[in-house]
Amino acid sequence: MTQGFSFAIDATDGFARKGEIFTPRGAIRTPAFMPVGTAATVKAMFVEDVRAAGADILLGNVYHLMLRPGAERIARLGGLHHFMRWPYPILTDSGGFQVMSLAKLRKLDEQGVTFQSHIDGSRHQLSPERSMEIQDLLGADIQMQLDECVRLPCSEAEAERAMRLSLRWAERSRKAFRERPGRALFGIVQGGASKLLRIESAKALADMDFQGIAVGGLAVGEPQQVMLDMLETAIPHLPLEKPRYLMGVGTPDDIMQAVARGVDMFDCVMPTRAGRHGLAYTRHGRVTLRNARHAEDPRPLDEASSCPAARDYSRAYLHHLVKAGEILGMMLLTQANVAYYQELMAGIRTAIAAGRLGDFMAETREGWIRGES
Ligand code: GUN
Repeated sequence: MTQGFSFAIDATDGFARKGEIFTPRGAIRTPAFMPVGTAATVKAMFVEDVRAAGADILLGNVYHLMLRPGAERIARLGGLHHFMRWPYPILTDSGGFQVMSLAKLRKLDEQGVTFQSHIDGSRHQLSPERSMEIQDLLGADIQMQLDECVRLPCSEAEAERAMRLSLRWAERSRKAFRERPGRALFGIVQGGASKLLRIESAKALADMDFQGIAVGGLAVGEPQQVMLDMLETAIPHLPLEKPRYLMGVGTPDDIMQAVARGVDMFDCVMPTRAGRHGLAYTRHGRVTLRNARHAEDPRPLDEASSCPAARDYSRAYLHHLVKAGEILGMMLLTQANVAYYQELMAGIRTAIAAGRLGDFMAETREGWIRGES
């Protein structure tokens, strides 16, 4: 157990848990949603606004930061928190997933991955040891093991090969992790769409000395029901007292469903990416602002929101900004979406504490369907 890092559950509702992760950089209220700050920025947002929206923790990426501006440079400049002016907790993803989705000419073997940068074609290597070194240089509060995530659908043999490699890399990551007060390392469950492989992976990781466990390799092309089945299969084999993190998920509905199955942490580019593409997530459902029906709509996205972007600007104005390709349109919609995701998480936490998560999920879905948009 790492000194200075702890997790306490203060309420449960079925499999759902409400709690807090404590780190020297602040507490993380769970279930938590981590906005994605890939390249040392939550795209189109000031960090002050990310905080004001209610985020306790951000996600950063080894892959992007090692390529530009470089982990050693960030370390010389005082670490990632200081560099991007976010003094609160940061979780960094280990890089393998991004190499597989972004890099050119990648080659994976027992040692690690070799790849060409998508930015300038330069060649790089990432091993479990180098990923841990980079995450230490960045100063991440929660660090992730290097793993291999396969896209779905894939053969059982391929899922098994990647799961076993990820387990060997889990051991190597554990050995290479720099123990520092308050810093944690999470393992990652793999196993594709196979229940047996998921159980084996979860059990093996549960027996290792990780401070938390993530479920990876989901939301990679499979139907939602397959993702939920894999969670229901793996989660009972994870330690009750450690935080559980579902990587790269998801829609507001995915998040509620996963919380109901015992997940504590999430990250996804959805709210930020959608904001840059003219799409808003609201209590009233998704709103495509480019649509002509908003051209003269004086109503805000959500009159009851505490977020100025969602509450104070008319849909007509947002429609105009999106149509005109104005940067402010992306900024306002990103802010509104990040705030909506945080409001959803706050609602989920309150509902778990009150033992009414099921009702909350039904009411939230009804709000999306009833809509106004
Ligand atoms: N982000 C989304 N899915 C994954 C995964 O399976 N592994 C890692 N490292 N990151 C992810």
